[in-house]
Amino acid sequence: MKFPYSEIVLEHFRHPRNVGRIEDPDGKAMEGSPACGDMVAVYIKVDPKTNCITDIKFESYGCASNIATGSIITELAKGKTLDEAKKITWKEAADALGGLPPIKVHCSVLAVEGLRAAIRNYEERHGLVKEKEPTTVEEVRRRLRRVMNPLTGLDLIRTNLVRDIEVKDGTVRVVVALPAGHQFAPAIREEILEKVETLWDVEQVLVEFTE
Ligand code: FES
Repeated sequence: MKFPYSEIVLEHFRHPRNVGRIEDPDGKAMEGSPACGDMVAVYIKVDPKTNCITDIKFESYGCASNIATGSIITELAKGKTLDEAKKITWKEAADALGGLPPIKVHCSVLAVEGLRAAIRNYEERHGLVKEKEPTTVEEVRRRLRRVMNPLTGLDLIRTNLVRDIEVKDGTVRVVVALPAGHQFAPAIREEILEKVETLWDVEQVLVEFTE
């Protein structure tokens, strides 16, 4: 059987560029796909004078399309300014790969969202966010939809693992329906902190477990 992938996709899948992790990155993000439960992590180094991405790496727990898109978008983003890199779309990435089967579109969307989230993380960590809306429970919930529940491969919200979210006076409180001693509790806590604590008006994040 011949897989419906272009030669470029197969080439990037077999020899992905910029794979790995940057120790001490300036911006980073781990994004999960609600469509398939796969994940991608993106790390960037940024020159603060020019706002250019000087180095970028990714790790993928996704499929061949996701790996190929991660490879191509890191190539496209390297050397671009943050504003330019933000505008890279999944369509551009898919076109640069010679097209992707429609059923695999969400895989390239995941890679592009990973890139945008890493840029957003850099901007939040460096006080560069322009739209400063007060943080709401809805915004926290939206971010937690990107945190995977390792027990199921689906996100924390869809799997009802988040019992409660409270936002008050710069403190965000998230209650997770797991025992504190659960093997995945530390990783889930870490990811919630990572997603929420960079919000411009958040001073502390409390992650509580139900037992
Ligand atoms: Fe999950 Fe492609 S099927 S990233």
